[in-house]
Amino acid sequence: MPAFKTLDDLPDINGKRVLVRVDLNVPFSDGRVTDTTRIERVAPTITELSGKGAKVILMAHFGRPKGQVVPEMSLKPIVHAVEEVLDHAVAFADDCVGEPAEKAIAAMTAGDILLLENTRFHKGEEKNDPDFVAALAANGDVYVNDAFSAAHRAHASTEGLGHHMPAYAGRTMQAELEALESGLGNPKHPVVAIVGGAKVSTKIDLLENLIDKVDALVIGGGMANTFVAAKGIDVGKSLCEHDLADTARTIMAKAEKSGCAIVLPVDGVVAGEFKANAENETVAIDAIPADKMMLDVGPQSVMTINEWIEKAETLVWNGPLGAFEIEPFDAATVAAAKFAAERTRAGKLTSVAGGGDTVSALNHAGVKGDFSYVSTAGGAFLEWMEGKVLPGVEILKK
Ligand code: 3PG
Ligand code: MG
Repeated sequence: MPAFKTLDDLPDINGKRVLVRVDLNVPFSDGRVTDTTRIERVAPTITELSGKGAKVILMAHFGRPKGQVVPEMSLKPIVHAVEEVLDHAVAFADDCVGEPAEKAIAAMTAGDILLLENTRFHKGEEKNDPDFVAALAANGDVYVNDAFSAAHRAHASTEGLGHHMPAYAGRTMQAELEALESGLGNPKHPVVAIVGGAKVSTKIDLLENLIDKVDALVIGGGMANTFVAAKGIDVGKSLCEHDLADTARTIMAKAEKSGCAIVLPVDGVVAGEFKANAENETVAIDAIPADKMMLDVGPQSVMTINEWIEKAETLVWNGPLGAFEIEPFDAATVAAAKFAAERTRAGKLTSVAGGGDTVSALNHAGVKGDFSYVSTAGGAFLEWMEGKVLPGVEILKK
């Protein structure tokens, strides 16, 4: 039984007003939604509630308008995309509180769906201001949070409402929490973590938390250079945070104490410039020319990483191994992602991935659908992996 309330615990909601926090912070350009993944993720909850006869009132933020009405950050242009995904009409209210919301809600009948305007148009949202929470609460009888990706924010619509009325996890929130639980909360060992991306400085808390929990920590991407350099190896022109050498050494020492293997690249693909199809060569990690930069981990490193993936029961992945957005420096990320996907498909591996770049990298490798779970959350996924308490999740606990 989950530690939090889900839609299975809901009382009869026929004709009831259900306030549902969703994440509709979708990529949008030239007047259209360019990636509907987040809408697809919240669709099951909306459809289920509507099917049970609830008046489904959606609350969401869009961008960071900082408490002002910023017309470009209106949710109105998103309505059509939501209707398409849901295959159901969606009404819209020009304000998430006050008269516009009241009127729109008064016009609803059982099963109707309404989207309220950007909650962040009000200062009270991010401040979690009690008056604003009360104004939102006046719109509903029950509260459902299906926005894991905003759960690291203690905002009125993500946290405050949970103090005012019965709070339940939506289906996506539930799936996310269950996947994260099997990834790090209570995983099958061996657990291998792959952490990549550009900088160590943004991932220190993450690395420190992981070394206590996982059996091997694969470090790739630009941040690997910082670790390699901290071992006294010259990384040439590679992206490297030399001022974090001590931090890197401390992390390696702690890992050794807690029996966590740190897997660093043993070879790399280097080039003179950060450019697609830049002239490149593969060199041993201690042979990076002074005028070259490492843009991907090399094939020997990939073999080692895949050996770890093969041994693992559980894999958690955040951040690419190389500059996957420019070819051919996507090779290591694609190879490891494909291998992890293959092991997952064969039922040998539970694989959980998340974080903005990670999702694009898995998409690029064509394996997003083959992982056990891919989170659409950026900051929330990272904070969860850092072992932090997420206010939007805490409030749902029984
Ligand atoms: C996201 O896009 O990561 C979430 O919607 C949270 O948005 P925020 O970082 O602006 O709070
Ligand atoms: Mg963000």
